[in-house]
Amino acid sequence: MLDQLTYFQHYIERVKRLVGQEKTNHILAKGLAIVVAGSNDLAITYYGQGAQSLIYDVDYFTSVMANSAASFVMQLYGYGARQIAVIGAPPLGCTPSQRTLKGGLLRNCAQDLNYASQLFNAKLSITLDQLAKTLPNSNLIFIDMYSPFSDILKNPQDYGFEEIKKGCCGTGLVEAGPLCNRFTTSVCSNISSYIFWDSFHPTQRFYKSLTKILFDRYIHRLS
Ligand SMILES: *[C@@H]1O[C@H](CO)[C@@H](O)[C@H](O)[C@H]1NC(C)=O
Repeated sequence: MLDQLTYFQHYIERVKRLVGQEKTNHILAKGLAIVVAGSNDLAITYYGQGAQSLIYDVDYFTSVMANSAASFVMQLYGYGARQIAVIGAPPLGCTPSQRTLKGGLLRNCAQDLNYASQLFNAKLSITLDQLAKTLPNSNLIFIDMYSPFSDILKNPQDYGFEEIKKGCCGTGLVEAGPLCNRFTTSVCSNISSYIFWDSFHPTQRFYKSLTKILFDRYIHRLS
């Protein structure tokens, strides 16, 4: 995350050299910075291999996450960004891998992880509202992707999806990332009808459906 801020700083310097300070400030103020983070903090660092859940309770951990998001937004603001959208966590308990680990025979969603996502989102949303009041001319937007994601999971056929509980690659139960490759894994016959590409990451078509909903819902918040 800190590297991202450094890259942003380098970008601003390059823009300044090209168009000068005044125009750069305008570009920064009119531009939109989008921050997406948190899924791996919850699914891996907290509940997964990181096992921070053995040390901290979920209330404390999600507060730390929300505060660190606020600090990141403050730093973006410090560099001149004015419109900053922060996207909350998805229903992480509904990924195929979580259904495999905790969902039983019916492959239900893991409630603990969904609860953690919702707790984080609630805190993030409140924290951003409070922060916005202290940063003049800022337009901080919390983007809720949990609800539209859940809507698609509830009514997949409305969006043309047929498989919501398994990933497209391999068995669809546990494979993720590098374990999905053309040497070891077979792939489902129609990727577009799946919500998940592997046991953790959604498909391109799912992202298209989701971003369309988010775009329609939040575009009016931009100035
Ligand atoms: C694959 O799935 C998409 C989405 O449901 C559908 O529009 C398309 O017709 C399917 N393609 C085939 C070859 O079945």
